[in-house]
Amino acid sequence: MLLCEIPELFAQDEKLEYLKEKAPTLKSWHLTVRQACDLDLILNGAFYPLTGFLSKDEYNSVCENMCLTSGDLWPIPINLDVSENFADMIKPGEEIALRDQEGVILAILTVEDIWSPDKALEAENVFGSNNTEHPGVSYLKHKAGSVYVGGSVIGVNKPTFYDFKALRDTPNELRKKFNELGWSRIVAFQTRNPLHRAHYELTHRASEEFQANLLIHPVVGMTKPGDIDHFTRVRCYEAILHQYPRSSTCLSLLNLAMRMAGPREAILHGLIRANYGCTHFIIGRDHAGPGLTSDNKPFYEPYKAQEFFERFQDKININLIKFKNFVYVEDKAQFEAINEVPIGAKTLEISGTELRRRLNNDLPIPEWFSFPDVIRELRRSRPPRNQQGFTVFFTGLSGSGKSTIANALLNMLLEIGDRPVTLLDGDIVRKRLSSELGFSKEHRDLNIRRIGYVAMEIVKNGGIAICAPIAPYEQTRKAVREEIQSFGSFVEVYLSTTLEVCERRDRKGLYKLARLGKIKEFTGISDPYEVPQSPELEIDSENSSVEHCASEIMLKLRSLGLLGARV
Ligand code: ADX
Repeated sequence: MLLCEIPELFAQDEKLEYLKEKAPTLKSWHLTVRQACDLDLILNGAFYPLTGFLSKDEYNSVCENMCLTSGDLWPIPINLDVSENFADMIKPGEEIALRDQEGVILAILTVEDIWSPDKALEAENVFGSNNTEHPGVSYLKHKAGSVYVGGSVIGVNKPTFYDFKALRDTPNELRKKFNELGWSRIVAFQTRNPLHRAHYELTHRASEEFQANLLIHPVVGMTKPGDIDHFTRVRCYEAILHQYPRSSTCLSLLNLAMRMAGPREAILHGLIRANYGCTHFIIGRDHAGPGLTSDNKPFYEPYKAQEFFERFQDKININLIKFKNFVYVEDKAQFEAINEVPIGAKTLEISGTELRRRLNNDLPIPEWFSFPDVIRELRRSRPPRNQQGFTVFFTGLSGSGKSTIANALLNMLLEIGDRPVTLLDGDIVRKRLSSELGFSKEHRDLNIRRIGYVAMEIVKNGGIAICAPIAPYEQTRKAVREEIQSFGSFVEVYLSTTLEVCERRDRKGLYKLARLGKIKEFTGISDPYEVPQSPELEIDSENSSVEHCASEIMLKLRSLGLLGARV
């Protein structure tokens, strides 16, 4: 039986012309990366039966009962979160233009309702947790806007991609391809990681056991912060595609923004693959799991996603293929499901963390674990730690010694000379990057965000960024850390020199003016300083020389593996 077309939400012909004329006159919302992914999948039918961003009733129904108001199963709220400022400018019934980061108008949304969600309740319902160590919860609480806008959308321009164009398919494009190939049983494999041998075994077995063709369907939208970037991953997939039977295997990329919502997300993944025309879907251990909490507890039990999926199987038009954890059995030189391993047999596993450690330290990665072609790609994009970029981020009160020590560190690193080094000193940044900003919380955050952004770009390109702002707020420091850590290490150095000492030094005479009330919002005097929770290094410069403080940092950098052994 041939697969039929799935409804897309793009305007056609005269309507399209009409909307293209009208769109520039409407108020605009610039989509975040996540919203752009969501909109793409709403418009191209991957999120069918959604017709827009959820309205308030739908949102409540999805959060509480996992279904839309129509009764259709839907596990994850897909919302257009906006700022309060923007929400104040619009009203129900109004049309707004949804633009991508470059300003291209992708769609028009007819506002149905505008509301402030209860995020704690949403987190509890959707993620089963309010712990912000969960990346989905963290996004919801720290990144998502505080107001949601619901309403149907109509597409006016298809989003454009310039990377791996030939591998990106809409549901209808894949359905057409499957029809042309004569594929009627198709097993989809979801992943956000490079394919190693365990993944290969799972996919191979699934397609053999169910006599199904295989769709390798990796996510290239947003995955867990810290994951390997999709450019590298796609090169890895391409490098091992020839290991699969060519006539029954297909690779296609999915522009999904994952939430790492484990069981609920597994259901979303199944619904999407059904929309792509697949008949079977693989769920192994810890599907779409965010990993462990800081006290080493899993957010979801390893097979919870499978159980949850089974519970709703009759409402999902795709068959579940379950796998227990696959481990390598040394004596048999092959992978087996953990429950089938002979008693007493020695099993081997390499976790994601261990793999990263080996890549970082240029250590061997055994062939039983992965394919040499995959490892070569990974090593190419992730050189060992002593060749990667990194950030040293100083924080502390004015006068605590940040600039002086940062300058000494700069020179010590320049003396080594193996990587470019840039010092983003607080005062210099205020002159060159943030001259229009004051010292309100909002402006201070913006200033730190800018420093973080520049540091991230430096690190991304293999350089060393030394940042030396006051950076009084923990949350902002944390956000900058997260951003930078996707590309290299972040070493927070807290200068804990006391206020008393800083004030006594008063090298710039600022404390005096602050005490006289001539400088407002002065950190430590009339503005807060939040002590870092877990800096990599704490230094009190009161009784130490600048040389000593800088060399302590050098020792720290060396112990973190950031400096080569011989430099
Ligand atoms: S996920 O976030 O996309 O689920 P990942 O790419 O690691 O993460 O996993 C893709 C799929 O392979 C998931 O269904 C996962 O459960 C499964 N999987 C990965 N590794 C194993 C393994 N060793 N044993 C069983 N299943 C696995």
